[in-house]
Amino acid sequence: MSDSEQQDIQTLLSVASQQLMQHGLIDSPQLDAELLLSHALNVSRTYLFTWPEKVPSAEQLKNFPPLLEQRLQGYPIAHILGEREFWGLSLKVTQDTLIPRPDTETLVETTLNLMAKEAKKILPPPYPTLLDLGTGSGAIALALKSEQPQLAVTAVDQSTKALKIAQHNADSHQLNIQFLQSNWFSALTSPHATFDYIVSNPPYIEEKDPHLTQGDVRFEPLSALTSGEDGLDDIRYITQQAAAHLTPKGWLLIEHGYHQADSVANQFQINGFASIQLQHDLAGNPRVTLGQKR
Ligand SMILES: C[S@@+](CC[C@H](N)C(=O)[O-])C[C@H]1O[C@@H](n2cnc3c(N)ncnc32)[C@H](O)[C@@H]1O
Repeated sequence: MSDSEQQDIQTLLSVASQQLMQHGLIDSPQLDAELLLSHALNVSRTYLFTWPEKVPSAEQLKNFPPLLEQRLQGYPIAHILGEREFWGLSLKVTQDTLIPRPDTETLVETTLNLMAKEAKKILPPPYPTLLDLGTGSGAIALALKSEQPQLAVTAVDQSTKALKIAQHNADSHQLNIQFLQSNWFSALTSPHATFDYIVSNPPYIEEKDPHLTQGDVRFEPLSALTSGEDGLDDIRYITQQAAAHLTPKGWLLIEHGYHQADSVANQFQINGFASIQLQHDLAGNPRVTLGQKR
């Protein structure tokens, strides 16, 4: 019998978080230990805090060491658990999708605020239409549809593997979204050609960014992350093409890197957008640029 089989929850957590901390490159050892143990025991994190003195049986604990070992090898928590929470929704994620980031909730929030303002002008019916470009796990599309059930949401990705995960997530939350395999706008032909809102968290990392060899991003698809030398190839393309796919006075909202705000605003200007605005994320970094079709 190994030591861990006789340890209570509090000790198991403390030993595991120590191991993760000694690893050196793991940002949140305590949280990761809690997530892994709650997953292994099939209980909530609240249970761990409520019953720190409970001693799980060897049978209950059998999955914990392999999960911990995967994390020590660098695998992202979201891949080990097979899920990530975004906007309060539990989403399946695999190595075929980007792991949804908290920063992206800024794009969701900005879109919802904009819709609330615009609702005073656009009175349903017909209900507003929205396109999510590069949907990945479906995070943005699902979050918006969950908040605005009347919204007609179309979501595209070039990756059929990602689209399968997104469809699974939509089904598991009973959200009706139209998913299409598309190279950006290529599959968007009439009658699904124009939208009141286009939102996107496209790839925007510079090809040679040294961070690509560190942490969780090593396990994510490069096609979801990088976009040319300056990270802006896809944003340039989307801002050039978007107006043709927006209804009159429709809005384009794009997430970007914190240092890309000026370049992105410039792209919006060059392509004729009006009312260009910038939103910051919770850490205070420039994160989302939006503009209106004239
Ligand atoms: C940064 S990820 C965003 C995923 C998801 N929207 C999120 O926020 O978590 C970018 C997504 O764009 C997709 N993508 C990359 N190039 C594309 C293209 N040419 N056409 C459509 N989707 C593309 C990738 O497959 C990936 O899912």
